[in-house]
Amino acid sequence: MKTLNIKAVSDEQKQAKYLAISQAIREAIKCGQVISSEQLPSARQLAEQLKTNRHTIMAAYNELIAQGWITSKQRKGYFVAADLPVNSSLRNKPMETLPAQPFRWKFTKNTDPSTIQTTASYRYNFAGGTPDISLFPFHEFKSYVGDAFSRPNINELNYGNTAGYTPLITQVTQYLRRARSITNREIVITNGSQEALYILSQILLSPILSVATEAMGYAPAWRCFTSSGASIISIKQDQQGMIPEALEQAIERQIQIGQPIALVYLTPLHQYPTTVTLPVSRRHAIYRIASKHNIAIIEDDYDHEYHYRCQPLAPIASDDPSGLVIYLSTFSKVMFPGVRIGFMALDKTLSDAVVNYKTIINHKVSVPMQDAIARWMQAGAFERYLRKATKIYHQRRDFMVQQLTHYQQLGRVKSFTIPDGGMAMWVELNESAELLAKTALSDAIFIQQEGQFLVDKTQSKDRFIRLGFAGLSTQDIASGLKCIFKAR
Ligand SMILES: Cc1ncc(COP(=O)(O)O)c(C=O)c1O
Repeated sequence: MKTLNIKAVSDEQKQAKYLAISQAIREAIKCGQVISSEQLPSARQLAEQLKTNRHTIMAAYNELIAQGWITSKQRKGYFVAADLPVNSSLRNKPMETLPAQPFRWKFTKNTDPSTIQTTASYRYNFAGGTPDISLFPFHEFKSYVGDAFSRPNINELNYGNTAGYTPLITQVTQYLRRARSITNREIVITNGSQEALYILSQILLSPILSVATEAMGYAPAWRCFTSSGASIISIKQDQQGMIPEALEQAIERQIQIGQPIALVYLTPLHQYPTTVTLPVSRRHAIYRIASKHNIAIIEDDYDHEYHYRCQPLAPIASDDPSGLVIYLSTFSKVMFPGVRIGFMALDKTLSDAVVNYKTIINHKVSVPMQDAIARWMQAGAFERYLRKATKIYHQRRDFMVQQLTHYQQLGRVKSFTIPDGGMAMWVELNESAELLAKTALSDAIFIQQEGQFLVDKTQSKDRFIRLGFAGLSTQDIASGLKCIFKAR
């Protein structure tokens, strides 16, 4: 019978002594002090060695028996288990002497980090889609979270009901009907729009298909499309958004080369990143083209509420007789991106497939958070907050317009159009946009520039920047712009 060379030191506050001893014995086995089937010291012997009592050692041994490291034989004592996977290689070699072989991963997908968004804190963050999270009524919302836990719907807390928490689906359905004229749709609650885009890419795309997008757009969406092997086809846009004739030509070209377009991805209300609203005539033209070629449209309506000049145009999904529009929206802008809740409103013919695929990824979205949002919406507090945020963002837009007019007079800004809505402005410079953004970054100021939004980077005129106004106070907008456009 062996003597084990172990020292079991227990921090009484943090770990019971028998656990510390069992851990020390396990380490002794792992590093080959005792090998498979070998007898261990008796409980009495080890208790004497470690100056503790026999019951503590027996508790430690019982723990190791439960974990499968050792066995006990009646009237014989304790033995290292015969079938430990580490043993064969350890028989003559302690663990420490094994060569450390770095594992070589064989990746099958591109994991390019270029679209990872940063949480770095900037002196002034002009990122275009960032809401002012400090405006969010956390204190009020806390009471709905409290209700979700104190009066839970036990059934819904289980697996199942992947499409979403029923009361939230009811609230979203009512809200879409009232505020966006969208009716007769199935609602699927997702982990933000990003999950919706990923699911759609997985079930509707393949390497022999392609996706038509505006020439400038939202790179995280493209990453979903290309993850399925599909190609992105950039469609020319002008001051009004995607040009329908260019879309039709691309559709025909792609059919000829054997990689047909299966989806059109659009941000029609506030084009990302230029913020222009796609006019009704173009919406109809694009819809007709899509319907003629049996192509679905993903309508990404990411910041619908924030429209200042008039009521926002009703989404394309509100007039969709063929059921080809997949409507996406998110709580990332009306709450904050970290809430990770969005939704799809889609035709019944597609919703089952979407829900089935979603179960592969994550079963469902956090039910307590869905519950809290449903209560918040039902109480009318959601729309109250929206009205408040819209008013503040409207003032910030007007303030940024005033400021940019000033820098235009100084010759630093060439032109800009006042956006009807959204959270950012698209601004033309008299100088290199890339250089300006780089210089600003060295001053801890974040600005996005044209090159970052183009499908085909070689098309960059290097003259445009996107300046978010929603996430900054008027004071910060003024100070930030002053730093960006400081006399050089
Ligand atoms: C065009 C566009 N779509 C969607 C989103 C929101 O995505 P998510 O709901 O995954 O946060 C954003 C956020 O910046 C966006 O700019």
